[in-house]
Amino acid sequence: MDKSVNPDPWERIAQHLGVDLYLDLQPDPAGSTRGRGARRRHSLASALREAISDGRLGPGTLLPPYRSLAADVGLARGTVAAVYQELIAEGWLVARQGSGTRVADTPRPGVSAPTRSVRQTPTTDHDFGLGQPNPSLFPRADWIAATRRALTDAPDRTFGPGDPQGSERLRNSLAGYLARARGVRTDPAHIVLTTSVLRALELLSRNVFGDVLAVESHGLPFHRAAVERGGTATMPVPVDGDGAAVDRLSDEASAVLLTPSHQYPTGVPLSPSRRARVIEWAGDHDALVVEDDYDGELRYDREPVGALQALNPDVVIYTGSVSKSISPAVRIAWLVLPPRLVEVVRATKGLREPDASIIDQLVLAELIDSGAYDRHIRRSRQYYRRRRDVLTDAFAHAGVTIPGIAAGLHAVIPLPSRDEDTVFDAALRRRFALAKMSQFRHPDTSIDDSSPSGLVVGFGTPPASSYQADVRALVSLVTERV
Ligand SMILES: Cc1ncc(COP(=O)(O)O)c(C=O)c1O
Repeated sequence: MDKSVNPDPWERIAQHLGVDLYLDLQPDPAGSTRGRGARRRHSLASALREAISDGRLGPGTLLPPYRSLAADVGLARGTVAAVYQELIAEGWLVARQGSGTRVADTPRPGVSAPTRSVRQTPTTDHDFGLGQPNPSLFPRADWIAATRRALTDAPDRTFGPGDPQGSERLRNSLAGYLARARGVRTDPAHIVLTTSVLRALELLSRNVFGDVLAVESHGLPFHRAAVERGGTATMPVPVDGDGAAVDRLSDEASAVLLTPSHQYPTGVPLSPSRRARVIEWAGDHDALVVEDDYDGELRYDREPVGALQALNPDVVIYTGSVSKSISPAVRIAWLVLPPRLVEVVRATKGLREPDASIIDQLVLAELIDSGAYDRHIRRSRQYYRRRRDVLTDAFAHAGVTIPGIAAGLHAVIPLPSRDEDTVFDAALRRRFALAKMSQFRHPDTSIDDSSPSGLVVGFGTPPASSYQADVRALVSLVTERV
């Protein structure tokens, strides 16, 4: 329907009513000598000034007409009109014939600009921060089109309380997608959707992992913290050039968390013999393997490493999310469970509702089913492959070889002849955002000369306009003589 030809009458009315205001109308202090009308007028004026100065009512915000605000706050229309006039005279508001009363664009002289309470992201000159894809790649047009289609087709029951396992439609789409793209063997009934891998780990730590979860000696500290919050202790397994040394798993552990396709953060895949070995260990010890496949789709060479889960879906819990493939702002992740664990995970999660938006889950299902998700992944792969090549070529010219497979959104820069802490401190002074390997180390890890080390950089993050210059600055940082 063309809205300009036949506008929705409710839309016109809503526009006319202006914003919906929450105003905290405080009673006038006890003992005030003002009359009742004056008191109410005073508290409305104060509430509006406060809402403007703390940023809740931003510059240009259209205020409701006198009539509707008067009805909302239980005051006479004339009182509201008088308050608006007072605030116009003071410079807080402006009124233009035919366009209502708005918050002034520029702060009043002598009044500080409204401050928002959100924390500003610290600024850096070279942003090699970890953990996110380049925000300019977010598939805005596809997301908008998929939202329109998903909502148009959704039956009314979609908008009631949802299945605690998450949208059946997305579970169907994911079961097909993960089988096709990652070799995962599953069924929609064995998938549980959550908001993130972190939440999924926290959930499993409450009832599934048992007392001790073995983790890679180097991994995300906040994932370990989430597991420990859920009541499971963590114990490190050393990581080397073949991934986690699973032949050194302790009998105490009842599960192990691995990043087999691309060890985080060292970047190496788990070797084929260790893949087989860990599945055997789980079978022999009645234990579980948790496979965090956080960037499995972002491989840039010709030999994709398939999911470990396919080797034995009865002992492997597979988890992943769209945090790397689309954006961490979306908040959708999945657990592919051995069938015997579905009930316990459902019960632990809470039987009433899912914890992620069903609407967003439908949009993701639509993206997958329409092929837009695959196109987005292919586009992203090309984009990041080029970035990865620029980085490795620049370092190769300076005589530094970047190890690890060509995958994901981060790389480890070795520092053979320099101390990690010294280079990291210099990086901070020069306003780089990046990490050092020791930040990922489990506190119980014993360290020797063969322990992983180096700087860990997210090469997806810098803006396209400065990427080459950022890489040059990074090469100088790492290779300069001190
Ligand atoms: C090792 C690892 N696992 C999982 C994830 C996905 O995290 P989440 O789904 O909690 O955002 C990331 C993303 O940054 C990661 O680096």
